[in-house]
Amino acid sequence: MEYLCGRGSGKIQYQASASQNFFETVTAKPALIKDVPISELPRINTSNMELDRVLGGGMVPGSLILVGGEPGIGKSTLVLQMALRIGSQKVLYVSGEESPQQIKLRADRIHQGSENCLVVSETSMEKILGHVKNINPDLLVIDSIQTLSSESVESLPGSVSQIRECTGSILRVAKETNLPVVLIGHINKEGNLAGPKVLEHMVDVVLQFEGDRNHMYRILRSIKNRFGSTAEIGIFEMLGNGLREVTNPSELLLSHHHDNLSGVAISAAIEGMRPFLIETQALVSTAAYGTPQRSATGFDLRRLNMLLAVLEKRAGFKLAVKDVFLNIAGGIKVNDPSIDLAVVSAILSSNIDIPVTSSVCMAGEVGLSGEIRPVTRIEQRIGEASKLGFEQIIIPKFTKGLDLVKYDIQVTQVSKLEEAFKLLFA
Ligand code: TYD
Ligand code: MG
Repeated sequence: MEYLCGRGSGKIQYQASASQNFFETVTAKPALIKDVPISELPRINTSNMELDRVLGGGMVPGSLILVGGEPGIGKSTLVLQMALRIGSQKVLYVSGEESPQQIKLRADRIHQGSENCLVVSETSMEKILGHVKNINPDLLVIDSIQTLSSESVESLPGSVSQIRECTGSILRVAKETNLPVVLIGHINKEGNLAGPKVLEHMVDVVLQFEGDRNHMYRILRSIKNRFGSTAEIGIFEMLGNGLREVTNPSELLLSHHHDNLSGVAISAAIEGMRPFLIETQALVSTAAYGTPQRSATGFDLRRLNMLLAVLEKRAGFKLAVKDVFLNIAGGIKVNDPSIDLAVVSAILSSNIDIPVTSSVCMAGEVGLSGEIRPVTRIEQRIGEASKLGFEQIIIPKFTKGLDLVKYDIQVTQVSKLEEAFKLLFA
């Protein structure tokens, strides 16, 4: 095929070779974007507030939802719990990993019965589609995508081509019949969803279930969502009888037992769309062996090293010969930079062995020159601190448009680390 530019006329002419029809006849007409009708997507309520929140208000019919996470984190529990609770909807729960007896034992453990949840142990893609045809469920669950195999592909279950083929078949059925599907997926050693990246491209929603197995908190994070925001997170607590939804995270994340303990500072952070009060704990001690150790749980180690350098350089603290251990309580991983101020305060508090008053919390990012930088959504943070009974909150000075009069909590603004330290430890 060649393209010819008709110079004289200024028009582009296309000349298709005889063997190929370049212009296909189409019947559908592209519409002006302003004329495209918007129909509110009907959503299926999962009866799980935290899950609904992360999904952007429930499940969209015909959507493919991938739930990823490390082995043992609670993916099967989360999804089975939803399958049992979703009420009048007929659910087909296909497991390639567990027998119906094992699933039944788990269902008994989480004390939930359902009239409408059918279970089957199956790994053949063709047979699963056969079940879907016979049963015609309102929701399909596949645990897990890595165990499925299709006859049309020769390779082993879990291989790139099997995952691609099986997801493709499920996708077609989902879109044609408007069937929502929850796929459970494993995570590999590097912490990525095992299998081809194409899996993430094919599905509509990717949720990641994470947490520290030694702690009971689990966070459901949305990584991709074609029908909602990816800023939301859901919080759960793993109990002996299943996952409990945590609707008020702050109360759980504060231990309330740190009165007069040095090395503890409370931060008014925001994760997802919600404010949290998070406890930061630090331990500073003289380095026993030559090279000082730095360790952080729930906080970026590079950021900790940067903050230590700022403390050393700008505030004159000799931390180079000290071991520093930092821990965010509850096994939560925090990405919000506003917890910097609490991190440095906890470190200093441990270093000088003076406690931070437990009625004070703070929010502020620490810059390289020791300046306290403004943080987003300060009003939500102040509101949450006030709601939880804190008496004072320390925030960055350069916060625009803040009406301090309307809060019944003392709001103190600081622009430099030194000012914050003077307030806390004077
Ligand atoms: P599971 O859902 O099997 O994890 P995944 O599917 O992600 O591999 O959950 C595994 C862990 O959760 C297991 O160690 C036991 C624990 N658990 C509870 O603590 N309470 C419960 O009610 C259930 C069902 C499991
Ligand atoms: Mg499982």
